[in-house]
Amino acid sequence: MRVVVLCGGESPEREVSLASGWSVAGALLEREHEVVLVDPAAAAPVLAGPLHPGAVIDGAAVGTEPPPLSDRRRLRSRMHAALTGGPVLELLCDADLVFLALHGGWGEDGHVQALLEMAGLRFTGADSAACAAAWHKGRAQAVLDAAGLPVVERVLWRPGTGEVPEGVKRLVAAGPVVTKPVADGSSVSVHHVDSLSQLEDVAAEAGSGGAELLVEPFLPGREFTVAMVGEQLLPVVEIELTTPLFDYAAKYQPGAVGEVCPARVPDDFARRLQELALRAHRALGFGPDTYARTDFRCDGDGAPMCLEVNALPGLTAASLLPCAATGAGWTYPDLIGRIMDLSTR
Ligand code: DAL
Ligand code: MG
Repeated sequence: MRVVVLCGGESPEREVSLASGWSVAGALLEREHEVVLVDPAAAAPVLAGPLHPGAVIDGAAVGTEPPPLSDRRRLRSRMHAALTGGPVLELLCDADLVFLALHGGWGEDGHVQALLEMAGLRFTGADSAACAAAWHKGRAQAVLDAAGLPVVERVLWRPGTGEVPEGVKRLVAAGPVVTKPVADGSSVSVHHVDSLSQLEDVAAEAGSGGAELLVEPFLPGREFTVAMVGEQLLPVVEIELTTPLFDYAAKYQPGAVGEVCPARVPDDFARRLQELALRAHRALGFGPDTYARTDFRCDGDGAPMCLEVNALPGLTAASLLPCAATGAGWTYPDLIGRIMDLSTR
């Protein structure tokens, strides 16, 4: 099969995505597919050469630091041009399958999926509607809440638009909170905030006209994630943190956290997490021919709360879905093969 792997892209998770793309391409080659690795936001979009965490592309180390957002406009314009015309579009049209190893932004929020749907091309993962539903954490939470899933109370806040809203002040007065961009992944710009003055620092960093933030109570309990590939729920992974938050640095520095799979929890608790993940995926429109991963954190009483559903979970060597696949007894190429099978059957 001729497969185009799309990776890189315009989002803050660009470097993570390049590392995912390279890993996916390796697995596809091992399975004897014909592979073209494409970063639609790069000046020269067809990639060659070793990409791995620690490699340097355009002056930035892969998988250690998010790229500067000042680049975003340039990356977006290149990506739009590549996906809507010229040699990249020709490559996509010639492919039997487009493997999406993009994360964040246009790759994960439904934009790229919508373009591929309009062009009538086959691609991996969920459709544009499910991706858009999961991507905005505030609106996804409303859907999950309406479906009866356990979610934390969250307040949306756009810093730089006047007074800190009462709802945000109330949350901060009640205890530590976490602030995060309402639509981003890999814990880019996630902060633990104890006081109103720290909140002002976060607002200053966001700047006026900056991104909308979610403010939610800090949950002190254990952190888990559950992935689904097609109809199969994978074993629960526990993220053993050495810092209060599973932030960007902890996610991609090898050895910074323990990822334990299967998680050391009672069977009925593991089954409950899997059942919640399945319900969350279905509520947001992820059908049996898709894959996704839901993150959970427990409150002080140990009750699991759904944090978010990831439409295009990371596929790097340090990522959680490959860890869960290993727990299920699958090799990495098995995982990639199963993801492809869902889109080609
Ligand atoms: N957003 C990253 C890639 C993940 O969910 O694994
Ligand atoms: Mg995420």
